[in-house]
Amino acid sequence: MTDDPKIKQLRDLKTRSRQGGGPERIEAQHKRGRLTARERIDLMLDKGSFRELDAFVQHRTSDFGLDQQRYLGDSVVTGWGTIDGRLVYVFSQDFTVFGGSLGEAHAEKICKVMDMAMKNGAPIVGLNDSGGARIQEGVVSLGGYADIFLRNTLASGVIPQISVIMGPCAGGAVYSPALTDFIIMVRNSSYMFVTGPEVVKTVTHEEVSFEDLGGASVHSELSGVCHMAADSEADALYLIRKLLTYLPQNNMEDPPFFPTGDDPLRMQEQLDNIVPDDPTKPYDIKDVIHLIVDDGQFFEIHEAYAQNIVVGFARLGGHSIGIIANQPSVLAGVLDINSSEKAARFVRFCDAFNLPILTFVDVPGFLPGTDQEHGGIIRSGSKLLYAYCEATVPKLTVVTRKAYGGAYDVMSSKHIRGDINLAWPSAEIAVMGPDGAVNIIFRKELAQAKDPVKRRAELVAEYREKFANPYVAASRGYIDDVIEPRETRPRLINALESLTNKRDTNPPKKHGCIPL
Ligand code: HXC
Repeated sequence: MTDDPKIKQLRDLKTRSRQGGGPERIEAQHKRGRLTARERIDLMLDKGSFRELDAFVQHRTSDFGLDQQRYLGDSVVTGWGTIDGRLVYVFSQDFTVFGGSLGEAHAEKICKVMDMAMKNGAPIVGLNDSGGARIQEGVVSLGGYADIFLRNTLASGVIPQISVIMGPCAGGAVYSPALTDFIIMVRNSSYMFVTGPEVVKTVTHEEVSFEDLGGASVHSELSGVCHMAADSEADALYLIRKLLTYLPQNNMEDPPFFPTGDDPLRMQEQLDNIVPDDPTKPYDIKDVIHLIVDDGQFFEIHEAYAQNIVVGFARLGGHSIGIIANQPSVLAGVLDINSSEKAARFVRFCDAFNLPILTFVDVPGFLPGTDQEHGGIIRSGSKLLYAYCEATVPKLTVVTRKAYGGAYDVMSSKHIRGDINLAWPSAEIAVMGPDGAVNIIFRKELAQAKDPVKRRAELVAEYREKFANPYVAASRGYIDDVIEPRETRPRLINALESLTNKRDTNPPKKHGCIPL
């Protein structure tokens, strides 16, 4: 209690600001199954760590009767706090005030907190729940969005940017999250689209629901716009906390080191038998990853999208790393348009934020077909190649089985600055698989053979013996060592530690021209 009228006024104003759009709208928000902007922040940050900015900011519009509706803080809550003791900036759109719509004041608040995140080198998290541009403010809202887009772009590769979609996110508003590094969506409660179901119906005569057009499942499985789909808001907020444990605060820092009780010298005998003898038989590369990384912990990104490649974060000997792995159990691990782009983006993120890259290779090549060729697999594959080539962070590669054709080059090969390239004895490194190779180079001989089936089998066996192994590549030094699968963990940790002071650069330039 206080008798000081000025202190009392301050407290009253802060209480009003904290009420957002008022108890009724807060209740309506809860009835939608959603938390308020402030509840979300409290759940995400370390308890009691939030420091709010701009609680007194109001919009300056008087059109359409808005002068009669002013809310302290307007429709977004901004500030900073900590996650596991580390600084993080946050904005959280408040749907209880004008449906979280973005006008001038709302945009200014976001820009301010983004500028602070950049200046102080800390991640920014945006919790999105908004009806889009504040219609009453017209072009000023559009300008506000553009101010944010610019900052998203300038912050890209400098500080980690994470977006969570916790309600509507439509129209041009989608492009702020789309410019950030990670998008997390909440199932059955959030949606993102450039044009909504009504416009779709008018233009293309398609009838589609909000969920089927731009829900979490669509974006995490089909479009790849969403990196992680959470079952609840609390889960989404937990994912942010977990994700940040792998990341540095900014591009000038190394990722955090987490001491582990998992023995760095741990041998894993199960790995010796994990690759089936029959080269056409699949296995799950995630089993390999889990057996190698610290405590079996793998934080997968884009889990439901382009599953023929697996990407995510883990730790080796306490060091954060990014993992990219062909997945033999989906489409035989082939590279196609979606998997190339998924992996390329991940490689670039790791490189921007000093995360060493570990690549597991088991790839039969690029996916053939008119769909792929006409869809631009040439351009998409080159993105992955480009991303690996330009990456200067430590790069470790393990060829577990197939590394054929152009895909061998692409997947962090020695030639494109792989630092330590290892292979298991089951590795097959060649221009193409034995069947395809024999069909081409012995076409005439097979046509004239008395028993073409028998001769073909002999030639395939001969080719396999000669080329489908790691030793030809190793004899050239393209593979640094062939190792027993069981010793992979100790060998990788040792290699990673040998690269602690790695220095490598690219030629000075404004920026490269990645084939977008
Ligand atoms: C101003 C808005 C608003 C907006 C919602 N509200 N969207 N106010 N500008 N864009 C207000 C409503 O008037 C209402 O105010 C309150 O927010 C809650 O909205 P409801 O409609 O009651 O909620 P709900 O039924 O849950 O529907 C949510 C919604 C719907 C689907 C988001 O409100 C809607 O369709 N809004 C318009 C979306 C839109 O067209 N935005 C512009 C997109 S174009 P009261 O006072 O009743 O509580 C765009 C371009 C960006 O964003 C370009 C960037 C380059």
